[in-house]
Amino acid sequence: MGFSSKLISWYAKNGRELPWRNTTNPYIIWLSEIILQQTRIEQGTPYFHNFLENFPTIEDFANADEGELLKLWQGLGYYSRARNMHKAARQIQTDFDGKFPTKYEEVIKLTGIGEYTAAAIASFSSNAAYAVLDGNVFRVLSRYFAIDTPINSTAGKKQFSEIANELLDKKHPGTYNQAIMDFGAMLCKPKNPLCEECIFRMDCRAFQTNSIQSYPVKLKK
Ligand code: ADE
Repeated sequence: MGFSSKLISWYAKNGRELPWRNTTNPYIIWLSEIILQQTRIEQGTPYFHNFLENFPTIEDFANADEGELLKLWQGLGYYSRARNMHKAARQIQTDFDGKFPTKYEEVIKLTGIGEYTAAAIASFSSNAAYAVLDGNVFRVLSRYFAIDTPINSTAGKKQFSEIANELLDKKHPGTYNQAIMDFGAMLCKPKNPLCEECIFRMDCRAFQTNSIQSYPVKLKK
């Protein structure tokens, strides 16, 4: 079995139940992904529910008073996230006829949305074939292939993005993306990864060469 099929089987058995996973609604996915950008799941989850309760649709969010949004955001920090979300919500009303886009090329135009978030929204909402690249993905791939290129270099970003998109399961991009994030967060952890119970232990170059702790390589800037 190849990397992607193995990963997806692992996820089917071990993946986390998270409240934003059983939906293809891009608004709900967007809300969860922006909250989780700089916030841990345990901390972000109550905020996610609270925002959805107060603003069930993107239209409600766009019509919200910015002061009210910032008040609900209190405790999460990085308030520019909330301001950018408000801008994006209004952009959707004016430029997308009020309908949250699901195409990568459209989603990436929204304020506050970068490559990671655009890939997450497009793949989770419409199964578009874009691989997500976050800290989890960099760590898993750098270990599996023992890649020495620094993840924060221009060459590294290009190399990892190419590998990630090659590995991506083109039939199930959304599931694959969720799977690799869970795998990185639960098993291939930064410290104390669970190599002894890892499904990739025989194929992982870093594990085979006893060098798990050397990956990912990062440039000091
Ligand atoms: N962190 C950010 N996005 C996530 C997601 N979709 N699932 C799990 N953890 C995440």
